[in-house]
Amino acid sequence: MTPPPPAVCCRALTRSYHAAAGVVPALRGVDLEVAPGEVMFLVGPSGCGKTTLISIVAGVMTPDGGSCAVLGRDLATLGGGAGAAFRRRHVGFVFQAFNLVPTLTAAENVGVPLLLNGAGQAAAIRGATEALAAVGLADRAGQLPRELSGGQQQRVAIARALVHRPRLLVCDEPTSALDHRTGQEIMELLRGLAGRHGSTLLVVTHDHRIFGFADRIAEMDDGRIVTVRTGAA
Ligand SMILES: Nc1ncnc2c1ncn2[C@@H]1O[C@H](COP(=O)(O)OP(=O)(O)OP(=O)(O)O)[C@@H](O)[C@H]1O
Ligand SMILES: [Mg+2]
Repeated sequence: MTPPPPAVCCRALTRSYHAAAGVVPALRGVDLEVAPGEVMFLVGPSGCGKTTLISIVAGVMTPDGGSCAVLGRDLATLGGGAGAAFRRRHVGFVFQAFNLVPTLTAAENVGVPLLLNGAGQAAAIRGATEALAAVGLADRAGQLPRELSGGQQQRVAIARALVHRPRLLVCDEPTSALDHRTGQEIMELLRGLAGRHGSTLLVVTHDHRIFGFADRIAEMDDGRIVTVRTGAA
């Protein structure tokens, strides 16, 4: 039997931004492999390219050069429509700023990925209700984001990212806005839910207090991965 492909496989990945002041190289040749089911943290100083890298992995940004395969499929070679459909089905993304839709309730926010994947209204409500219960917010389903605390909004964002049981979950600073205890709870939740579904986790963080949750920690500097070490569990 052939072993499953890596959850993430980046080779010689490059990406620059074209700003008014000139070209800003953000990724200068990134090689990274994340195994199926692994919890990989991505750390490094501000501006080293972490968000750029995970945005490419999540398929919301395209690289300039190199390749990035997710679950054995290179999104660039899948073509626009097929790549987007593959990403919607198999990848979840927790943004640093939560990105909840302010005019939708918690349950409606969480149901969006199911609707995008073709579920009917009733199935979306059922899935969203279950996902909110899994993050301990069953009683907040009808509230708007502004009626929730920061930690609760972060939980809604996690429920939304996990509602369609993605095989890969990518998170940008999921605990940065939270106090220590809430941060630990969110990580326990993420690890538990990912473990239950057999999902792979790729998490950007500055938060040393949660390093124990990682299987491995990849350290970036100036657009490259400089070390990969075993987590401090
Ligand atoms: N839209 C943009 N236009 C121009 N330069 C950008 C843009 N977005 C990011 N950059 C630059 O690319 C580099 C990498 O940015 P990126 O957001 O990936 O860093 P990061 O490691 O996530 O930083 P942080 O920890 O502060 O979030 C930085 O030098 C940044 O200034
Ligand atoms: Mg960032």
